[in-house]
Amino acid sequence: MFKFSLLLSFFSVSLLGVLSVAGAIQPTCKRIECPSFDVIHVGNGYEIRRYNSTVWISTSPIQDISLRESTRIGFLRLFNYIQGKNKYKQKIEMTAPVISEVSPSDGPFCESSFVVSFYVPKVNQANPPPAEGLHVQKWEPVYAAVKQFGGFVTDSNVGEEAAALQANIAGTKWSTAIEQSKRAGHASTYIVAQYNSPFEFDD
Ligand SMILES: *[C@@H]1O[C@H](CO)[C@@H](O)[C@H](O)[C@H]1NC(C)=O
Repeated sequence: MFKFSLLLSFFSVSLLGVLSVAGAIQPTCKRIECPSFDVIHVGNGYEIRRYNSTVWISTSPIQDISLRESTRIGFLRLFNYIQGKNKYKQKIEMTAPVISEVSPSDGPFCESSFVVSFYVPKVNQANPPPAEGLHVQKWEPVYAAVKQFGGFVTDSNVGEEAAALQANIAGTKWSTAIEQSKRAGHASTYIVAQYNSPFEFDD
């Protein structure tokens, strides 16, 4: 059973408002390595992508009420990792996107659980350096229902975009596939993929 999740894909667009085209290459991915994918279906307000096997280096789950805050905490750990804070003292090239897997948590404070991951470049995939507090995830091929939007990620727009994506796929065979995948144990509610640093203002 393939893992099948909702993937929200964020990237900044210029102020002129260039709208995203299905399967369009994010500008970031012309500069740095990103996982490649095939678009297998374009729907109304969403697209279905297939990513072949990918390798990620991931934080342990971070319990927080804020996606932004937990992504910031997770990214700092991953940034240290690629700067050489790992068992081999090896530097690793920056890639995109940085993803945050969002899962509901049983905690009493309406917290969610966030796992933040860095896409491991192809050249390091066979042997990513270990590091304390981080673990390697080797994903089998993944199908994802994707909605892209521009601008900055906030705690409020993430929920709205995720709800819109879910509404767009409701009643399609893709929605059924996602439910089946969840029953098979792939529990994350959705994944937020960010392609730009918060200090970039266009493209
Ligand atoms: C993924 O794998 C399939 C089957 O091997 C291949 O046809 C396809 O080109 C690959 N896609 C990418 C984006 O690498």
